[in-house]
Amino acid sequence: MSILITGGAGYIGSHTCVEMLAAGYEVVVIDNLSNGSKLAIERVEQITGKSVRFYNADVRNKEALCRIFEENSIDAVVHFAGYKAIGESVKEPLMYYENNIVNTLTLLEVMREFGVKKMVFSSSASVYGKSEAMPVSEDAPLCAISPYGRTKLFIEEMLRDLYASDNSWCMALLRYFNPVGAHQSGMIGEAPKEIPNNLMPYISQVAVGKLEHLNVFGNDYNTSDGTGSRDYIHVVDLAKGHVKAVEWTMSESGCEAFNLGTGKGTTVMELRDAFVRTNGVDIPYVVTSRRPGDCDVLYACADKARSELNWQAQLSIEDMCRDTWNWQKNNPDGYEK
Ligand code: NAD
Ligand code: UFG
Repeated sequence: MSILITGGAGYIGSHTCVEMLAAGYEVVVIDNLSNGSKLAIERVEQITGKSVRFYNADVRNKEALCRIFEENSIDAVVHFAGYKAIGESVKEPLMYYENNIVNTLTLLEVMREFGVKKMVFSSSASVYGKSEAMPVSEDAPLCAISPYGRTKLFIEEMLRDLYASDNSWCMALLRYFNPVGAHQSGMIGEAPKEIPNNLMPYISQVAVGKLEHLNVFGNDYNTSDGTGSRDYIHVVDLAKGHVKAVEWTMSESGCEAFNLGTGKGTTVMELRDAFVRTNGVDIPYVVTSRRPGDCDVLYACADKARSELNWQAQLSIEDMCRDTWNWQKNNPDGYEK
């Protein structure tokens, strides 16, 4: 079976390519390399000893997409391609709506034209906005608070409408919590092109000496040590969740959301301390003011993924810290060199 992975040269996409190939699927990737790297695809091939059919093209380009569907017998699509920086989406909302929404619309039109009606979509815990009840389950009220989060919410709504109009579609909307870590080989990982916005890549760039210290955004939250708490999930666990979700689309019809998280919250200081302890490196830090829009605590109820997808996260915070550092120290400049 052949799976088209949009955005497969990116962080989560490249790890998902590895797990899809390991599970015996053939993998076709479309990526415009706006935030991905061709080297990530080459490394996926080295890790798995299998080849990936790679198209350097934009998902908004209907002709290019049609050519891919003509040249390959695609059974299902895993759709990662899109922009993902919350802060940038506030400054450039149209850029986010244009890429994330238009590329999904174009993809769905082409899928329908070719009779491919199975999709796994990268949604995000950001669709929960400021949820009060923890852990947050899939039926919690949806309310995104950034343009980025709204693109995910609108796409989810689009997919639900499409399914309501034609029940032969099957779509899994995967709401990721906080993906971190890297493949155990240290050959693929997260490679931010600019100063990272997210905690784990920031910590690892401090560890490697590219950044001076960690800024801890507030220590007056309602948590055990006052710093924000999130549900960090190893990217390899997340990638395996996509294999399970693809299997689910093969045997079901429906349009269902699934949280992919561990169900456990870890604070900023707990993550920083685990990184120091696991890797024997120092991470100096300074407590600064809160980052606007951040909530105290966010972690998943992952029961639905366990019961319906037969998926559960396996890897620990220590695994996440070890694998992040292994990737970072071997590739201090990401895929640049
Ligand atoms: P990433 O930027 O590393 O990967 C996205 C890939 O898509 C990149 O390789 C980029 O070049 C490509 N791309 C973007 N627009 C494209 C287009 N129009 N045509 C073709 N290729 C295009 O991001 P990631 O962290 O791997 O995230 C993957 C998906 O998961 C995104 O949709 C993101 O919103 C979602 N997500 C990520 C996180 C996270 O923390 N990383 C959390 C929740 C959801
Ligand atoms: N933080 C710091 N210093 C930093 C970066 C982050 O203290 O330099 C703190 C934040 O305040 C927060 C925690 O670390 O308490 C995690 O922040 P991240 O930026 O790593 O992650 P977020 O939870 O803010 O956002 C992530 C993804 C989004 C996704 C969201 C879902 O980046 O794509 O989870 O809730 F939408």
